[in-house]
Formats: sequence, structure tokens, C-alpha cells
Amino acid sequence: MASSLRILFSFVVALFVTSAFAQLDQQTYDEMAYLAKHASAAYKEDCRSPVGTTKLAQYENGAKGYIAVDQQRKWIIVAFRGTNGAQDLITDLDNALVPYTVQGSKGCQGCKVHSGFQKAWAKNVNAVISDLKIVKKEYPEHRIMITGHSLGGGLSALCGITIAQEFGIGKVTAYGFAAPRVGDKNFAAHQEAAFPGKTFHRVTSMDDGVPQDLKVSEGYYHGGTEYWIQKEPNPSINDIKVCNGSEDPTCNAKAAANVRIPMGINQAHFTYFVQMGSSTQC
Ligand SMILES: *[C@@H]1O[C@H](CO)[C@@H](O)[C@H](O)[C@H]1NC(C)=O
Repeated sequence: MASSLRILFSFVVALFVTSAFAQLDQQTYDEMAYLAKHASAAYKEDCRSPVGTTKLAQYENGAKGYIAVDQQRKWIIVAFRGTNGAQDLITDLDNALVPYTVQGSKGCQGCKVHSGFQKAWAKNVNAVISDLKIVKKEYPEHRIMITGHSLGGGLSALCGITIAQEFGIGKVTAYGFAAPRVGDKNFAAHQEAAFPGKTFHRVTSMDDGVPQDLKVSEGYYHGGTEYWIQKEPNPSINDIKVCNGSEDPTCNAKAAANVRIPMGINQAHFTYFVQMGSSTQC
């Protein structure tokens, strides 16, 4: 009797623990750690072989970044650059919520998105999609993986939806680091539909202020499942919390609640596994 009670008790404890703290799995951790390096490498236009892969295309107008092929993992990587220079700053500051019209918006009734991000994507959406079609034809079995840091993390959501609609819902995976909010609540639901089953990983770190800069009270809403890193650099699997959906009040939102720096750009914004944009990441 005593021993079966004990078993029951440990079972109840185990249930409680697993529901309170969802564990990060090893594969997600590995993908996240590796793509953080690409999010960093996207800052370097002169990097021909980002993190040992082969760069196939680069964009310097509109949504900036690259397409690379990783033959070892069998991945096609689309990495978007964060803010780097005056044109990107103008993009960031153009933060009114406007009707969502760029390719990928079909089926999103009354949705609104960040004006500057949408303008940036509208400039080269045709070029990126047509290049990706050529690459995908060459490597039909490769997975498409999308990443980016900061502005690049925001673009991962907006551009990622277009790419997912074009290449197959559920077949594209995204890891967006340190992203600000990109659109309204309807847009967040549209993002969820384009990335079903938690395939959009919205990674935040400690008290990074950028993910909280554009506010829910201003009409913005995050999409993607939040993964909150609690130690930098080089976090272990146990330093990362799988949060409850996209707007968990106990993760980065709580840690960054009192950040009062312009655009939220504090120290925590620059380190996600590695230093973002550092010359060692290429
Ligand atoms: C997760 O968030 C939803 C709201 O989005 C809430 O209803 C639910 O209670 C939360 N679950 C936990 C375990 O906090």
C-alpha cells in the first residue's frame, strides 16, 4: 500500500513538473544553436561560405540576407540580416501598422503589419521566391530553413509566411531571433497557420528589450512559439525555456518589462548563443 502510494505520488509529481516546464528537445536545440550562427553571418555581406555552407544568392536591396545550401544537413538556408545602416533604420522606424498586402497575405482578412518590414519585403519578394524555386529544383529533398536576428527575425516571420505558402505549409521551418513584433493579432494567427505544429521558433534572450519594443497596447502581437534563453553566451539545453505560446507573460516579456532604452536595444539583444554580427561568424 505504502509503495503504491509512493508510485502514485511520484507519478503526480512527474505530471506536474512536465506540464509546468516543457523540455526543449535535443534536435530543436541543435537547430537553434546552428541557425544562430547563420543569423549572425547574415550581417557579413563579404562572407562567401557562411558557417561552412555555400552562399548561392545575396540580397542588398529590400529584405537583406542570403540563400545558402548546407549539403551536410540537406538544408536550404534563408538568412535575413538585422539592422545595419541607415536604410534599415528607416525600415525599423517606419513602424505604423498598415494593411497587409504583400504576397503571402492571401486569406488574412483585415490583417495589419509593420509598414517598414512590408516595404522591405515587397522590394525583393519576387527575386527571392524565384531564386528559391531554382535552388529547390536543384535540391528537391532539402528542407527550407529560415532565420534572422532582430530586424532579420521580424523578416523571418513576414517573409517566412510567403515562402511557406509557396513551398508547402508545414514544410518550412523558422528560427527567428530577437525579433520585434511584426503585425497584429490576426497576422500572428496567419503566421501560426503558415507554421503549424510549433515550426516557427521565436527565440528571445534574457531581458532583450527589442521583442517588447512594439507593444500589444499599440496593436502589435507576437506570432510563433517563444523559446526564452536564460543564460548567455553558449546556453545549454537546460538554460532555454519552452514558453506557453507566443505571448507568455512569464518569459522575455517579464524580464524586459522595465527596459527603457530606445527601441529596446540593450546588451542582451546582441548575444544569442554567439555574438551577433561578430567577425568570427562567417
Ligand atoms: C497558456 O496560455 C493560455 C493563453 O494563451 C492560457 O489560457 C493557459 O492557461 C496557459 N497555460 C499555462 C500552463 O500557463
